[in-house]
Amino acid sequence: MNLNNFRLNLGGKEYVPIVIGGMGVNISTTELALAAERLGGIGHISDAEVMFVCDQLFGTSYTSDKRRKYADNINNADKSIVQFDLEQLAEAQKRYVSHTIGQKSGNGAVFLNCMEKLTMNNSAATLKVRMEAAMDAGIDGITLAAGLNLRSLELISEHERFRDVKLGIIISSVRALAIFLKRAVRLNRLPDYIVVEGPLAGGHLGFGPDDWQNYTLEAIVAETIEFLKKENLDIPVIPAGGIFTGTDAVEYLQMGASAVQVATRFTISREAGLPDEVKQHYFNAVDEDVEVNSASPTGYPMRMLKQSPTLQYGIKPNCEALGVLLENGGKCAYIDAYYDELKSREADGRFVVKAATCLCTGMARYDCWTCGSTVSRLKETTNRLPDGSWQIPAAEDIFMDYLLSEDHAIRRPALEKHP
Ligand SMILES: Cc1cc2nc3c(=O)[nH]c(=O)nc-3n(C[C@H](O)[C@H](O)[C@H](O)COP(=O)(O)O)c2cc1C
Repeated sequence: MNLNNFRLNLGGKEYVPIVIGGMGVNISTTELALAAERLGGIGHISDAEVMFVCDQLFGTSYTSDKRRKYADNINNADKSIVQFDLEQLAEAQKRYVSHTIGQKSGNGAVFLNCMEKLTMNNSAATLKVRMEAAMDAGIDGITLAAGLNLRSLELISEHERFRDVKLGIIISSVRALAIFLKRAVRLNRLPDYIVVEGPLAGGHLGFGPDDWQNYTLEAIVAETIEFLKKENLDIPVIPAGGIFTGTDAVEYLQMGASAVQVATRFTISREAGLPDEVKQHYFNAVDEDVEVNSASPTGYPMRMLKQSPTLQYGIKPNCEALGVLLENGGKCAYIDAYYDELKSREADGRFVVKAATCLCTGMARYDCWTCGSTVSRLKETTNRLPDGSWQIPAAEDIFMDYLLSEDHAIRRPALEKHP
């Protein structure tokens, strides 16, 4: 029995039941999402820092223009005036999504990972613009993540694609699901799929920093399936977090899930956006290198490698240029932590801000090495090269291994020839 014995049915269309999770900022690239789409599965792009991503990909200057506009505020701890231009935000989002959607060539789909915790100092308006621009540009689906704003569906309810675009949510408890569904029922617009993310995932976790060990993905998936059955709701459930082999995935499909969402195994793929030297850090990681910490200014715990450069940051907050984590009113835990630290130090000396990290800069520079708990097993998935480095596999190799693997076997890619 392998994963290829199953299909995910979404709105009458069948997909290979493998979803590559969204990984911001531009770790789950256009190319990675398209690789899944070509093979009949579902790939995500992420709209985290989309204006910065456009600048990198298309040579636009959204970030430097915004920084210039607010240059006088750079040394001010009060960031309340720093706003995104909503027209530019829409333009960037459309450009990035169309660029990706325009290259689709398979039978799968490309979804957008939309983290609602990116409050951008104007949470409702920016979220509405991001979602509507993505729909205008033809996105197949939107996965609402990190923050789960109960008003999100209402924000886009007037859009002509509200009922045709696939809408999914990421939850880590039945309680969160029940609350969201109540609101959705009122709008007569239920989610099309539910990603259940457990405590072993990468990125932010939907658990407390000290209690995530008390939960298991298996238990939450079982409770979710049970809850939906009781409510007479037929919504596909997609477990995520720690699913490392195709056989792990099959076990979830046998218990009633409809697909799996995976990410860590793809972080080291050729198509993923991390620089090659960072991919080698992921390969070389051992369990002792992994921690769940509270460095993220969002207040959610995050799993990352202890060697992440972002954990050594003492940099000035860069909200005038990036600023996607600014809460309404211009607050961010890193700004407070930075200025507290600065007060007690020589202004010109180097220091590390321990209480929080600047995730906007950390993610933009690929300095935040977030990973799932299985990162130490990536070595099992590829070949060691004569120079001691690890061969970087194509996303297709990893996808096909998930799809065809049996008995927890992992098929390594064909050995790269070296001259
Ligand atoms: C490097 C990395 C970045 C991630 N970034 C995001 C993100 O931006 N938004 C999000 O909702 N989930 C994010 N995640 C979570 C994944 O989308 C996915 O649900 C989860 O990691 C699956 O578990 P696995 O990594 O054990 O396969 C990230 C995961 C990784 C490994």
